[in-house]
Amino acid sequence: MGKKILIIGSGGREHALAVAFEKSASVAAVYVAPGNPGMLLGTESVHCVPIPTTETDALVAFAQSEAIDYTFVGPEVAIEAGVVDAFREKNLLIIGPTKVAGQIETSKIFAKVMMEKAGIPTAGYQAFSEHDYKAAHHYVNALPLPVVIKESGLAGGKGVYICEERTHAERIVRETLLARKRAIIVEEFLEGPEFSHFSLVNGEHIISLGIARDYKRAFDLDKGLNTGGMGAIAPVSLEDAQLSDEIVATIVRPLTKTMMENGTPYTGILYTGVMATKTGLKVIEFNARFGDPETQILLPLIEVDWLDLFKHHFNQTEPTLTYLPLQSVGVMIAAKGYPEKPVTGFALHLPEVPPNITVYYSGVSSVNGQLLATGGRVFMVTCQDENLDRCREHIYGWLEGVDMENLFCRSDIGVSN
Ligand code: AMP
Ligand code: GLY
Repeated sequence: MGKKILIIGSGGREHALAVAFEKSASVAAVYVAPGNPGMLLGTESVHCVPIPTTETDALVAFAQSEAIDYTFVGPEVAIEAGVVDAFREKNLLIIGPTKVAGQIETSKIFAKVMMEKAGIPTAGYQAFSEHDYKAAHHYVNALPLPVVIKESGLAGGKGVYICEERTHAERIVRETLLARKRAIIVEEFLEGPEFSHFSLVNGEHIISLGIARDYKRAFDLDKGLNTGGMGAIAPVSLEDAQLSDEIVATIVRPLTKTMMENGTPYTGILYTGVMATKTGLKVIEFNARFGDPETQILLPLIEVDWLDLFKHHFNQTEPTLTYLPLQSVGVMIAAKGYPEKPVTGFALHLPEVPPNITVYYSGVSSVNGQLLATGGRVFMVTCQDENLDRCREHIYGWLEGVDMENLFCRSDIGVSN
């Protein structure tokens, strides 16, 4: 009997997961809750289920009534809502961390404490609660500029402030601690190329999935505000395999050991955001999930049957992963005004998608069969080919036929440097 998979989430990441899982020989159906109508284009066994990502009871009830074999958690909000805990209580197989282990993403302070215990290199920091305003004010005035301030808790990609001026740092400290009563950490500014590593973890069992680079700023040449991600590439360099080994040995392995010893074993995808500084690799952040948009470009390179991979994950056995010897590039197409005030509600009319391109949908809805942009990041155009330039040619060539009146994208994704 073919297996049934449930993916929790609704964006481009979940679209890419659905496409990858559907390829497994043993999959009969992939359900995505709530999914989006763009995922139904070009897929055969993908179905959307109208259950919001944080409705844990309804998700459990659906998994039970449909006899779902494996559930995979996409976004951090579901982890914070305790979806993994709720599924495990009913003995349902789910890939993701418990709510307490998910604090590796949801609490910057928890993450720093774990890193300290595990001896993982990261930016020096100090934590402040809403009662520590005076101390925080003093601290940001004593640090060299720029000063990095991060709110603890989920901030949806926002909540990280890189302050070039003291007055800015002072204002952020006032706004977060005094006005919004949010705990913060203030940390040392790091410099160097940044990339994301992904692994599938079950306690101390680690399956390394690879490295990708995300382009976080809104505009070309890294100008504009931080976004969820405007493009991505993988591999990042010729040294990805060695870099991956180093990240597992010096970061992921010590972290998973410490999480075990802490009584909060980690399970699920671990996203390690790393900066290669002059003094070595340093962790910028951990996330308790796959990256969006990194997933859309990394998964097509991994040659594996995902259901087999899930079995290896649960049995803590070693899979064989191979990578297509290709470059993968993805350009995010966002609604104008993103990330602050994106325009919404306009119809999308895309030209036919040729075989060398895959489109993954994020912020779309459907009215009478017509796809509408719901704002934010709308869709991602991806390509795998022999090098960056070929991928760029295909992607940007196809985009010339797209009506961009209400949309924008970066033109420098994958420019070799
Ligand atoms: P985060 O949400 O922690 O990933 O931060 C968002 C972005 O801010 C990161 O991807 C980095 O580009 C930047 N950033 C965060 N922390 C630092 C730091 N300590 N030094 C320099 N840049 C940082
Ligand atoms: N692309 C960054 C993230 O998923 O957090």
